[in-house]
Amino acid sequence: MTDQAKDRVYIFDTTLRDGEQSPGATMTHDEKLEIAELLEDMGVDIIEAGFPIASEGDFRAVKEIAERSRNAVICGLARAQPADIDRCYEAVKHAARPRIHTFIGTSPLHRAIPNLSMDEMADRIHETVSHARNLCDNVQWSPMDATRTEWDYLCRTIEIAIKAGATTINIPDTVGYTAPLESADLIRRLIERVPSADEVIFATHCHNDLGMATANSLAAVEAGARQIECTINGLGERAGNTALEEVVMALKVRGDIMPFDTGIDTRKIMHISRRVATVSGFQVQPNKAIVGKNAFAHESGIHQDGMLKNAETFEIMRPEDVGLAGTSLPLGKHSGRAALRAKLKELGTEVGDNQLKDIFVRFKDLADRKKEVFDEDILALVTAHMADE
Ligand code: KIV
Ligand code: ZN
Repeated sequence: MTDQAKDRVYIFDTTLRDGEQSPGATMTHDEKLEIAELLEDMGVDIIEAGFPIASEGDFRAVKEIAERSRNAVICGLARAQPADIDRCYEAVKHAARPRIHTFIGTSPLHRAIPNLSMDEMADRIHETVSHARNLCDNVQWSPMDATRTEWDYLCRTIEIAIKAGATTINIPDTVGYTAPLESADLIRRLIERVPSADEVIFATHCHNDLGMATANSLAAVEAGARQIECTINGLGERAGNTALEEVVMALKVRGDIMPFDTGIDTRKIMHISRRVATVSGFQVQPNKAIVGKNAFAHESGIHQDGMLKNAETFEIMRPEDVGLAGTSLPLGKHSGRAALRAKLKELGTEVGDNQLKDIFVRFKDLADRKKEVFDEDILALVTAHMADE
C-alpha cells in the first residue's frame, strides 16, 4: 500500500442498493439517476448502484448510472452464482470504472441456507470470484455475516477470495452485532493473519441494529480498513447502515486523532440528505447527527447567549461546512433576552432595555402557551407593546 493510500479512506455509498432495500424506500428510475449524480458530484469514490439480477428495473438503473458516470467506480451486487455475476457485469461494464461485488453468507447460520459444507462453500468462493475477475479487473468480495463467522474459516475464505482475484475484501457486520473494540480487533487481526492482505483494500460495512454502526466503521478504519460502506441518512434495512454524513464529518472534525481524508465535498451533504429523504419517503429525525433539523439549532437561553458571543461554545462544526446557511436560534420558552434582542434586530426592530424587558415578558407568556414562536408572533408582540406604550 502506498503512503497516499494509507491516509485516504474510500467512501463506498450503497444508498441505491442496501439503502433501497429498506422496506418502503423504493426509488424510481429517474430518482436513482439523480441521486447517483449527486453522489458523484460530492466526491463519492464508489457508488453501489443496485443489484442487477434483482429486477429488470434494477438492471436498467445500474446500466444507465454506469453509462452516465464520470470518475466514480460504479459497482453492482451479485450473489455467488455465475448468472448473477454475468448480469451484474452486463450492467456495470458501461462505466469507465466498473466493479463487481459478489458475496456469500459465511457464518454457520448463513451456510445452512444453501446447505453447503465449509469445503463446498470454499470451492464456490474460488469459482465465483475467479469468474468475476475474468470479466472485470475490479472485484469486491464479501463474507456476509463476517462478524459471526468462525475466525479460522473467515481467514480461510478471505485468503481464497484474494487468491482468486478479489481486489477489495469487505467485512460486513450484517446484523449490527459487533462493538467498536471488536470491530477494530477483527480488522487488525485479519490484516495481520491473511496472506497478501496488503495487496487488497479492506472495507467495513456496518449495520446499525445496536446504534454502533458509525463507531464500528471508524474503529475499523483506525485498525486498517480503507473503505467505508455507508448510505445517506443511514438509510438501510432494519435500523439502517452507517450514515455517510456521520463518518465523513467525524473524520473531518476529529482529524486530530483520525488523520484520514475522504475526498468528500461536505458542503453538499445537506442537499443530498434532503433529496434522499424526499425520494425515499424516509424523513430524517430532528435530532439526527449532522443532518437533523435541530443539529445546528439552539433554543435554550444559555446556549443562545453563548452562540451569540462565540459559535464555538456550542458547535463543533460550522453549519456552512455541511451546506447550511447558518446556525438557527429558534425562540421558545427556554430562550433568553439575548436571543430575543438578536431576533428583533434581524426583523428590523431595535429596542431599548426597558422596551425589551416588556416584550420579553409578553414573549415568555406566549412561549409557555405555544410550542414554536414564529417571526410573525414576535412582530405581533412588538405591535402590542407599542399600542400599550
Ligand atoms: O449487510 C451485508 O452483509 C450486505 C452484503 C450484501 C455486503 O449488505
Ligand atoms: Zn448490508
